Amino acid sequence: MKPNSLLTATLVAALAVAVTPSAAAQSAPAIPGYTMGQKTLAKAPYTLANLESLKRTLLFTDEDIRYLRMSKTILADQTEAILDVWYGFVASTPELVVYFKNNKTGAPDSAYLGAVRKRFGQWIADTADANYDQAWLDYQYEIGLRHTVAKKNKTDKADSMPLVNFRYLSAMTIPVTTTLKPFLAKKGASAADVEKMHAAWVKSVLMQTILWSYPYVQKGQF
Ligand code: HEM
Repeated sequence: MKPNSLLTATLVAALAVAVTPSAAAQSAPAIPGYTMGQKTLAKAPYTLANLESLKRTLLFTDEDIRYLRMSKTILADQTEAILDVWYGFVASTPELVVYFKNNKTGAPDSAYLGAVRKRFGQWIADTADANYDQAWLDYQYEIGLRHTVAKKNKTDKADSMPLVNFRYLSAMTIPVTTTLKPFLAKKGASAADVEKMHAAWVKSVLMQTILWSYPYVQKGQF
């Protein structure tokens, strides 16, 4: 390899590292509106100790963390295909697609859907990372707020429904994780490992939707 092409290859590799999800979580957001780890975020009203108690109730153990992390490389190059399936489900479910409609036209707002989709892709990587630190916890609170009247539409300046109704939040755990399973099985993992990765995803997504429900619950009753 000529010195010039070596330099180019090194630069390309450095740039690739610069846009990996974990780097994105720590530096300026490469994804518009993705603010994990940023100082501007409010501190979550629940603690890491609360999270540990919730994990125990969900039978969520270190084994689940291992299986979530195993899923990361399996899912990494399937992100767009997974998002196609999830977005297809929302688009074909009238009760859900209304939350992305433009108030003026009444039709799904493609700019809004597209902006949220980028952060949803990052969320797949973050869920598989299973790094439960304060920055992650604070971002859970933020994601919850972004589904409610407090913050929905604000990140993308969308003119859409003012909130996602609470009843759909945890329910969505089922379509999200059921449709994920075939993707977990696509890269040659054993059937037993696929089952365990799937179970870990079900627990993690349910756990997150429970954390996101905080702003919907009456003060002092979460
Ligand atoms: C398992 C349940 C769910 C998961 C995993 C999920 C995941 C996400 C993620 C990762 C984001 C982007 C967060 C960010 O800004 O970084 C988001 C935003 C959003 N989700 Fe959900 N969601 C769930 C339930 C729902 C349901 C039931 C609806 C109803 C259609 C919905 C509609 C939306 C909308 C409209 C936004 C954009 C909010 C905004 O304006 O910022 N979500 N969701």
